[in-house]
Amino acid sequence: HPPQRPAPQPDQTNRDSAFLKTMRRESAPHTPVWFMRQAGRYMPEYRALRAGRSMLECIRTPELAAEITLQPVKAFGVDAAILFNDILTPLPVMGLDLDFVGGVGPQIANRIETPADVDRLGVPSSAETMPYTAESIRLVRRELDGRGIPLIGFVGAPFTLASYAIEGRGSKTYDRTKRFMYAEPAAWHRLMGKFEALLGDYLEQQVRAGAQTVQVFDSWVGMLSVYDYRTFVKPATDRLIQRIRALGVPTIYFGTGTQHLLPDMASLGTDVVGADWRLPLDEAWKLLQPGQGIQGNLDPLLLQAPWRELKPQVDRVLAEAGGRPGHIFNVGHGLLPETPMDNVRRVIDYVHERTAKGA
Ligand code: CP3
Repeated sequence: HPPQRPAPQPDQTNRDSAFLKTMRRESAPHTPVWFMRQAGRYMPEYRALRAGRSMLECIRTPELAAEITLQPVKAFGVDAAILFNDILTPLPVMGLDLDFVGGVGPQIANRIETPADVDRLGVPSSAETMPYTAESIRLVRRELDGRGIPLIGFVGAPFTLASYAIEGRGSKTYDRTKRFMYAEPAAWHRLMGKFEALLGDYLEQQVRAGAQTVQVFDSWVGMLSVYDYRTFVKPATDRLIQRIRALGVPTIYFGTGTQHLLPDMASLGTDVVGADWRLPLDEAWKLLQPGQGIQGNLDPLLLQAPWRELKPQVDRVLAEAGGRPGHIFNVGHGLLPETPMDNVRRVIDYVHERTAKGA
């Protein structure tokens, strides 16, 4: 699926922000910081806005999605905003019955069990089925542009979305996903192809609406062996990423538990690769392509630790990054609901202060 229209004009807004400079691997005034799941239940302003409203209602109402996106920008001075949405939002438009169940997480009532279920999935135009995403992006950009803060758009990767579609919920071992992948390889590849088409279209819609960087979340791909990644996942993910790269916006590819997969993930050629906390950042960085940046990699649980433990570990991550251009400071996986806001604020201020260049 090559882009049907010419790539959008390059967006020059906030081109010299610390975040976008770092995405280009240029030297920046300080190491940029943002946190996956930076908008969420650990913030009282988020809980207040969510009260009496479902997750999907907030995502589908641009004014609400825009306001939640801005909450961490206003509270902490993060270097980038990430659109408030979810990687699972495209599932309902394909015909999968998604609900976010409080205290349980996402659930899909009619999960994929057979090849015929794959063939029933629709691949409709995202502009028609998810117009609220583009509208939310336009609203957020109006607020962010004056603050000098760029906006990150995102999708889930084909494997990670397939894992929810097949398991019907989160999993620790992905048994159903692997059983389907091994037993029904032709249907599996058709499923990857459907996600590739829908997600590529959706990301293009996000970029045209004003997303200045995109992150592809392959959160659970680390469950696969190198062989299975190459055989069952890499081809469709590669085509998806090449399609986004052709749009001219910088890209991030992220997963967890991916030490063994980093060279393969890096070979897809995104500007930045996300790493979780398991490997020291300098060792993870060596596994990437020359010229590629890295995002990470504080254990999100450290944001619940006392400052006497948290501070030296922030120092350690910064030392592993070694002041080289191309490091985006982040957690190795999303912030958790128990995270104290004070620690979030303190880490952001501390990273800015420690890495500030000049006066
Ligand atoms: O990062 C951000 O702040 C932007 C918004 C965002 C959310 N989910 C909001 C959300 C993003 C980028 C995501 C991505 C996402 N969603 C991923 C990939 C990142 C990762 O964590 O690996 C995954 C796997 C999901 C699927 C998902 N959504 C799960 C497993 C859950 C339930 C777990 C939980 O924390 O409750 C969600 C719900 C969800 N998505 C919430 C938020 C703020 C919590 C909903 C609530 O307020 O109750």
